[in-house]
Amino acid sequence: MKAIIFDLDGVICFTDKYHYIAWKKLADKNGIYFDEEINNRLRGVSRMDSLEIILERADRTYTAEEKEAMAAEKNASYVELLKEMSPADLSDEVKNTLDELRNRGYKLAIGSSSKNTKMILKQIGLGEFFDAVSDGTNITKSKPDPEVFLKAAEFIGENPADCLVVEDAKAGIEAATAGGFKSAGLGEATEHPSVTYKLGSFKDLLEICI
Ligand code: G6P
Ligand code: MG
Repeated sequence: MKAIIFDLDGVICFTDKYHYIAWKKLADKNGIYFDEEINNRLRGVSRMDSLEIILERADRTYTAEEKEAMAAEKNASYVELLKEMSPADLSDEVKNTLDELRNRGYKLAIGSSSKNTKMILKQIGLGEFFDAVSDGTNITKSKPDPEVFLKAAEFIGENPADCLVVEDAKAGIEAATAGGFKSAGLGEATEHPSVTYKLGSFKDLLEICI
């Protein structure tokens, strides 16, 4: 393995609660039922696809223009919440592990469906840390399509077979496998049948990437 490609949300930092608050606000305003269980289905899913999942509970259909406006409204509330994030939202475990992996000579990249990736990295103090960032702004298909990881591998000039993808979402493991990457899963991602390595904790990467 020459490089490691990290998902952002749920791997490097935790934004689930902010997504939840912002989607809940939008859902309540429109009289649509929404809860934490539905929120869990949005992991790794693009903003527009997330909205479609939320609208499964709506009692009317929405036009494309209305959907665009709803997604923009949700994102505006979400970005406001992201402004509260700081380097304190990056755990010592993640920071120390990343530093050690860099010392061991691995190229380190991000592969996230989020269009807010660069803002989040900046907020938590990793704005300049990664060798490449592939995110929602450079893809047309979100996970489980492998595009975001294939782009990350291309940005760092490595073959997928030489890269490890680290993911917390089953859709992310699906994407990694489809792209020809090895994968390391955290949380629910460990349950995916094609996951290569199951991690109990982020620092366990130091036992795989030696
Ligand atoms: C990540 C998160 C998803 C989110 C997606 C798009 O993959 O896990 O929950 O929907 O990014 O985020 P964005 O910031 O572009 O709305
Ligand atoms: Mg994730």
